[in-house]
Amino acid sequence: MKKGIGIIGGGQMAEALIKGFLERQLFSSENIWVSEPILERREYLMRNYSVKVTPSNCEVVENQELILLAVKPQVMVEVLEEIKFKIDPEKHLIITIAAGLPISFYEKRLPLKTRLIRVMPNTCALVHKSISAVAKGTFAQEEDLNLVEELFLAIGEVVKVEEKYIDAVTALSGSGPAYVALFLEALIDGGVRVGLPRPLSEKLALFTLEGTVFLMKTLQKNPYEIKAMVTSPGGTTISALEVFYKEGFSGIIISAINKAFERSKEIGQTFS
Ligand SMILES: NC(=O)c1ccc[n+]([C@@H]2O[C@H](COP(=O)([O-])OP(=O)(O)OC[C@H]3O[C@@H](n4cnc5c(N)ncnc54)[C@H](OP(=O)(O)O)[C@@H]3O)[C@@H](O)[C@H]2O)c1
Repeated sequence: MKKGIGIIGGGQMAEALIKGFLERQLFSSENIWVSEPILERREYLMRNYSVKVTPSNCEVVENQELILLAVKPQVMVEVLEEIKFKIDPEKHLIITIAAGLPISFYEKRLPLKTRLIRVMPNTCALVHKSISAVAKGTFAQEEDLNLVEELFLAIGEVVKVEEKYIDAVTALSGSGPAYVALFLEALIDGGVRVGLPRPLSEKLALFTLEGTVFLMKTLQKNPYEIKAMVTSPGGTTISALEVFYKEGFSGIIISAINKAFERSKEIGQTFS
């Protein structure tokens, strides 16, 4: 493991990662450098995590070899333009978590042979429950990928994938928390529809979702088996499932994920 890390962009994701790195003792706070344009945000990060903060992206690149790009995709061109002359392919390993931007986008703009790893985490990183997919750039080595895997284990689980799968990953686990939240919202409304007070419905729905995931993981059962466990002949569950099947519930979800996949590819193409 490297001694330190430089993070460009001190937003939500950066903070989740900083928390994870410190908790796992991957880096000490004085070896985490963060560049961030907003003064209040820099002060917040310094006050809460004792990390080194600066408004200068180049200063971060000059002082660290492991560089995490944690800015929004819209500002990535500007950031790469700024730091490219400071990047030494022999020394630096660049990690990006920006959604939509393909590896070719960075490799075109950074010095030849720059080692790059693309990561797609999700918002559950904020509570250390992200599932992050990591993909290797053209010049990155297996050991670079292993190092990045170790880093992202600090905020949850990690899977290694080829870049060709990243759009699908984005469509499933990247956007996934929003789908699950939508389903949860519908469960809550359903409870209200049959007469439950909303706070009670919220508690029942949340624990049902959480409990089902825990049950599957603990008993190592697949969704079909869990469904069968709850569905008694002629009972309430099969009556509800009949409606889901008739109304095309699974088809809607599959089509929605496919739509997100197409959109992710489209965004990638505009930047490739
Ligand atoms: N959040 C998620 O669920 C999620 C999931 C997967 C991937 N990602 C990716 O993670 C990246 C970061 O997302 P986020 O949710 O952490 O966004 P965020 O909270 O907006 O963080 C980005 C930070 O970068 C700062 N910044 C803007 N321009 C900069 C510049 N030129 N140099 C240095 N820093 C600059 C922003 O400051 P200002 O506030 O001043 O703009 C902000 O603090 C994005 O590329 C996103 O696609 C996020």
